[in-house]
Amino acid sequence: MAMLQFDDEGAKRTDRLYASPDVVAQRNVVLALLAPRPGERVLDVGSGPGYLLESIARAVGPSGAAHGLDPSAAMNALAAARTGELPWVHLDEGDATALPYPDDTFDAAVSTQVYEYVPDVPAALAELRRVLKPGGRALILDTDADSLVWHTSDLERHRRVLDAWDEHLAHPRLPRELSALLKRAGFSVTGHHVHPILNPELTPDSFSATQMHIVAEFVAGRRGVTTAEAEAWLADLRERADRNAYFYSLNRYLFTAVAP
Ligand SMILES: C[S@@+](CC[C@H](N)C(=O)[O-])C[C@H]1O[C@@H](n2cnc3c(N)ncnc32)[C@H](O)[C@@H]1O
Repeated sequence: MAMLQFDDEGAKRTDRLYASPDVVAQRNVVLALLAPRPGERVLDVGSGPGYLLESIARAVGPSGAAHGLDPSAAMNALAAARTGELPWVHLDEGDATALPYPDDTFDAAVSTQVYEYVPDVPAALAELRRVLKPGGRALILDTDADSLVWHTSDLERHRRVLDAWDEHLAHPRLPRELSALLKRAGFSVTGHHVHPILNPELTPDSFSATQMHIVAEFVAGRRGVTTAEAEAWLADLRERADRNAYFYSLNRYLFTAVAP
């Protein structure tokens, strides 16, 4: 298994993670920057469990259209359940590098936490540009792995865990490349923003409370990290939380752009 799998179990975990207050706050920033308006046709590339798609659909209303595209049938099933009452939502199974839409279709498009999984990002951005109308708005959000601050007791073990965790993405440090890639694809970049996910304490509904289990399971058996080491890494984080010595911070980088 190369990257994270978005099968039934993976999709349900992502669903839980994306319901956390930390990710709700992130979505509010995305929506404010994207500013979908009534009557607009908007695409969400890699729409996953469909939380953002539902909000976009409510903003564009029945005179508009909200299209979600994802290669994972399990993710699309979650999104369909979430948006079933909104007939102007359309879901397609497909890949960011081969969008199943004609040229000049959308007023706006968004893709959050997706291009970092896509091996050929220039091809995905060329497709995004193709399906946007001239002047159409794009918003892209991705994480840079080097922005992670996670307070652990064994720094050497932690570094090996994070090196193995890098393997869950095709591009763990994509944000630093995105401005240049967008410009090369013909977009005008109109804004850069950073949104931190900050968990100074470990509460059951915090983002890192779910993420630490996903990381521990993924890294066991990779890059020389044993199952026992992954479990010890996890136990250390829990123990630090018990004695008020927990800290987690991770940056999401947002880019707004306009198609020519
Ligand atoms: C971390 S989830 C993000 C979901 C959603 N965008 C959100 O922010 O709530 C990553 C999503 O990207 C999708 N994905 C992975 N590779 C893709 C590709 N090549 N094209 C389109 N979507 C892809 C996955 O199936 C998954 O739903």
